[in-house]
Amino acid sequence: MQVERLTGVMGARVHVDDVRVLSDGALEELRALSCEHGVVIVPNQQLTPLEQVEFSHRLGPAADSPFVEPSPDHPEVIKVLKEASDGNAFNFGGAWHSDFSFQPAPPSFTVLHAIDIPPYGGDTLWSSMTAAYNALSPSQQSQFAELQGVHSARDAYSPKMQAIHSGLSSMNIVCDDSANEYEVHPLITTHPETGKKVLFFNRAYVRDLVGVQDDAEKVKLMEWLHLHTTDAKFGYRHKWTVGDLAIWDNRSTQHYALNDYAGFRREMHRTTIAGERPLP
Ligand code: SIN
Repeated sequence: MQVERLTGVMGARVHVDDVRVLSDGALEELRALSCEHGVVIVPNQQLTPLEQVEFSHRLGPAADSPFVEPSPDHPEVIKVLKEASDGNAFNFGGAWHSDFSFQPAPPSFTVLHAIDIPPYGGDTLWSSMTAAYNALSPSQQSQFAELQGVHSARDAYSPKMQAIHSGLSSMNIVCDDSANEYEVHPLITTHPETGKKVLFFNRAYVRDLVGVQDDAEKVKLMEWLHLHTTDAKFGYRHKWTVGDLAIWDNRSTQHYALNDYAGFRREMHRTTIAGERPLP
């Protein structure tokens, strides 16, 4: 497998002829590369939705994907689609987040396949929360190890947010009261496959911190955590080409889909792989 690193901190382009026919050994290697680099891009892949589901199953069983109505023929595939006529509507993934981190066991990996790409814009940004952890001072590392994040989809998918999602003509995002539930996860987690420490924060879903008493201090710390974990020096920005297949490790990264292509169509097919409860 030919591997090209994309930055000094994260991201790799991995060249394989066809992910549909990878040997078990090659699949394990691709999985390990996804964990090591946070995100891998495999160019020139042509997968039908069913083939993407079959490929994803080799990484693990499908994760539960709430709030977003899946493709009617392939219930494990979410069509991330913005039509040219949707203009400046808010796009799916348009805020820094880790997929469904509000679940008890958030997805381990996400697979995103580029089907239709605008002539410019629509890039995706990832940030390494392993690099963000490593950049903390020893005293911050021990202070944050005492804290927990309260993850909730309330400011993304509770009924008050329905209007923001209704501008997409081809994605049916259904907000409901279950978004007000929450899960508490350690702020510092240990990656279950690499054993590396991760600063497990994302602003979209971490809505509170357990362990900081003073409210003003908490607001300040959450803003600092957002700015720190999304610092450009920890990230990679991908300009898509049709046929790119991205596999990212949802346990150690967060990501953001840019919405700068009003008037053009963008279609991606997304599958998510079940994960495990984040542990300290
Ligand atoms: C997502 O957040 O899963 C979507 C990312 C993208 O469309 O680039």
